Amino acid sequence: MELFDLSDKVAIVTGGNGGIGLAYAKGLVKAGAQVAIWGRNKRKNNQAVEALTALGGDAIAFAADLTRRDEALDAFQATVDHYQKVDICFANAGGVGRSGRLHQLTSEEWQAVLDLNLNSVVHTYQPVLQHLLDRGAPGKLIVTSSIAALVGAGFASGYAATKAAVLGLTRALAVEYGRKGIQVNAILPGYIETELTSNATDVFREAMLRRSCSGKYGTLEQMEGIAVFLASASSDFMTGQSIVLDGGNTIYPL
Ligand SMILES: NC(=O)c1ccc[n+]([C@@H]2O[C@H](COP(=O)([O-])OP(=O)(O)OC[C@H]3O[C@@H](n4cnc5c(N)ncnc54)[C@H](OP(=O)(O)O)[C@@H]3O)[C@@H](O)[C@H]2O)c1
Repeated sequence: MELFDLSDKVAIVTGGNGGIGLAYAKGLVKAGAQVAIWGRNKRKNNQAVEALTALGGDAIAFAADLTRRDEALDAFQATVDHYQKVDICFANAGGVGRSGRLHQLTSEEWQAVLDLNLNSVVHTYQPVLQHLLDRGAPGKLIVTSSIAALVGAGFASGYAATKAAVLGLTRALAVEYGRKGIQVNAILPGYIETELTSNATDVFREAMLRRSCSGKYGTLEQMEGIAVFLASASSDFMTGQSIVLDGGNTIYPL
């Protein structure tokens, strides 16, 4: 067995039509996995499938708003109808929500970021877990958290709170499903230039660069390998863990 071989494995990548999710998907297809992307935007979905196909990969995309449980269930059913099974699931879709101090946020704005970064993960994981249990199959669940879970995120308290919440979810699920052969882990990226960070202020961007041990931002290519590792049998003894990929941002002494 190749250490990182994903041949015959089927992976879901939510938010896989761009940014970090597409980087995960590229790593996964390069390792031989078949990949189903879930995202809302059909044009981005199609472009991502084209990019993965150009790499020689087998990929398909389904449109779904994962803040809605029914749409996640439909995307899951469509994935199983297409590939017959699911082995690996990256719950990566997410966003910052409205910026502002906590007292300025409406209940709807607070609820929206909970739905986007926490409830969407539950909507994604639930049918996958049921499916793995029904098959009696091992599996890998991976969520994209953020270093905001560790260091906070001023003016984005909902983001920091939800990215920390999924770490608790990860540890709980590692316990609940460990004896079923299912590993559950989290990736905490540092600053990477994507659509999500395109609205970041210059002050924030400069701070991220200053705090990087290498003096560089992370790149999307640097997210491919961690996805393959956590999806592969090489990580079978790792569960409930939170893996930081931030160029040293969170240990920088200033
Ligand atoms: N970039 C960073 O520096 C950084 C750092 C730490 C953590 N992260 C995390 O990494 C993940 C990916 O972010 P990114 O930086 O790659 O940003 P991005 O390019 O904006 O990607 C976000 C993805 O989520 C999808 N998405 C958003 N809302 C959705 C919804 N309601 N239902 C389904 N899909 C939805 C988007 O597709 P559609 O718009 O088509 O739905 C898109 O594919 C996020 O969870 C983010 O919090 C990013």
